[in-house]
Amino acid sequence: MAEDLVITRDTSKEEQYQSIIPQIEALLQGETDFIANLANVAAALKEQFGWFWVGFYLVKHDELVLGPFQGPVACTRISKGKGVCGTSWAEARTIIVPDVDEFPGHIACASASRSEIVLPLIVDGKVIGVLDVDSEVLSKFDETDQLYLEQVIAILLNR
Ligand code: SME
Repeated sequence: MAEDLVITRDTSKEEQYQSIIPQIEALLQGETDFIANLANVAAALKEQFGWFWVGFYLVKHDELVLGPFQGPVACTRISKGKGVCGTSWAEARTIIVPDVDEFPGHIACASASRSEIVLPLIVDGKVIGVLDVDSEVLSKFDETDQLYLEQVIAILLNR
């Protein structure tokens, strides 16, 4: 059963990730339902960091379809190669966007979003979805977020 999370504030980004990641690992321990785990990861990250939007899109046929998330309502379907999410899928790599207005083809699900990081979920060499995090602040995300969010994805994908 889930316990309340211990949320650390007023510490560095690294320390906040180092506090929340073991808790995410514990939260997912013994639960094999992928959607349930995606939902709890989105909730835990939202609770720790207070980001504007955090959630998952999952590859279904030839599109990304909205999965578990926390934040305002969002676009439901994204084509391969479109926007930051579709580009991360097409290129199977993490994309950090310091200013969404500078990213050609950025899909504005919410006009308040200013910066973004999208990481692919890769299983057996195939992208099965992406983790998307949006902020109302410019240049919110960097390599530190990439490093730790990759760890979160590794926990989710059990490797
Ligand atoms: N901005 C994303 C679309 C998803 S929403 O931000 C939740 C993109 O360009 O792919």
